[in-house]
Amino acid sequence: MATSSACADNIVLIGFMGAGKSSVGRELARRTGRFFLDADALIETAQGEAIHAIFDERGEEYFRELERESARWMAECVRGSIISTGGGMPTVVERLRDIGTVVYLQLPFEKILRRISADERSKRPLFHNAAETKRLYAERQSIYEKQAHITIDADRPVEAIVEEIIQKLSAS
Ligand code: S3P
Repeated sequence: MATSSACADNIVLIGFMGAGKSSVGRELARRTGRFFLDADALIETAQGEAIHAIFDERGEEYFRELERESARWMAECVRGSIISTGGGMPTVVERLRDIGTVVYLQLPFEKILRRISADERSKRPLFHNAAETKRLYAERQSIYEKQAHITIDADRPVEAIVEEIIQKLSAS
């Protein structure tokens, strides 16, 4: 922990549900000696409730406001960390770049479907059915691309993805 990069810019991972933001984030944190912060977990801890319960009891717009609030806090108070975001955060927080360097983990929709098990789907309130989720995926591509400083092909093992992120960031 606590390397010379500890107080540098944050690295913010974005991408659709199931793109591997949390696993890549944890490995990236391990490799770079930074702390890892999961924005969904942050919200769950602050609310004392799981995301799907927040959606059920308070509705999506309430959850989106919590995402905006957590993004404001991260932009102001978090430094030198690896942050994984919920798949919808880039659609409601206009300038993720205010938090740090934004890395988009891109994965074809078919791979996403294959990765998310039935059990995992039940934890994701927006994963109603494949057709609806595919529409959401298509709608979000341009938003992810616009928000990102760099885009990474996430259809590879976690270690390979992390290696490429480290290389691309050191070259930029
Ligand atoms: C969402 C993605 C989820 C979670 C919430 C909404 C979305 O996070 O924030 O269920 O709108 O795509 P993951 O991307 O980690 O599954």
